[in-house]
Amino acid sequence: MQTISSTDIDGMERFYRANLVNSLTGFKSVSLIGTANAAGKTNLGIFSSIVHIGSNPALVGYINRPIKAAPHTLANIEATGTYTINHIHPEFLPQAQQTSAKYDESISEFEAVGLTPQYLEDIAAPFVLESKVKYALTLQQIIPISLNDTFLVIGKITSIHLEKNILNQDGFLNLDQVPSLSCNGTGTYYLANAIADLPYAKPNQ
Ligand SMILES: Cc1cc2nc3c(=O)[nH]c(=O)nc-3n(C[C@H](O)[C@H](O)[C@H](O)COP(=O)(O)O)c2cc1C
Repeated sequence: MQTISSTDIDGMERFYRANLVNSLTGFKSVSLIGTANAAGKTNLGIFSSIVHIGSNPALVGYINRPIKAAPHTLANIEATGTYTINHIHPEFLPQAQQTSAKYDESISEFEAVGLTPQYLEDIAAPFVLESKVKYALTLQQIIPISLNDTFLVIGKITSIHLEKNILNQDGFLNLDQVPSLSCNGTGTYYLANAIADLPYAKPNQ
């Protein structure tokens, strides 16, 4: 078995270390976060640190890198208090990946990569029309992480929009049927296969 120490990690070349540490935590869901600034100028970015915080209230978090590295999504969320999270499917994966490029604030990634902004209900933030599983959030809390200048951004789900036949009778979403993609690191994407459907675990059963 290969062992890598903390000293080894500290001494690694920057991109090698990023690849290793990024992929070590395993497969993640990957989505596009849609926002607009106060003037309505849209922004779209790909994010994989999206995490379930709780179901009641329905809270979802994501980690935003330091402001200098990823400024626009967080600034728009702070300005408007609203954003959308849109699953990614194979048909538009290259466009989704391209949103990670450092575009100038004056350029909307929607136009730059060729995805379509979609406005639903009265929500100021754009959804991605091409996405089949998407939801809107209102900002609840931004928790700065002083260890590395990142932010845990927590939002409450205000509406969910699904293509037909994705939602099971028990509320479960069949994401492998859509299919929604997952990723590992910042460039490798996966299709998931469900391999088991186990009952709620109880002691001694
Ligand atoms: C697969 C993938 C996952 C990413 N996940 C995150 C993430 O979770 N948090 C983050 O801050 N940046 C993440 N990034 C980088 C952002 O997409 C990138 O910094 C983007 O330019 C941010 O745009 P913004 O300045 O418009 O917010 C990821 C990039 C890729 C390719």
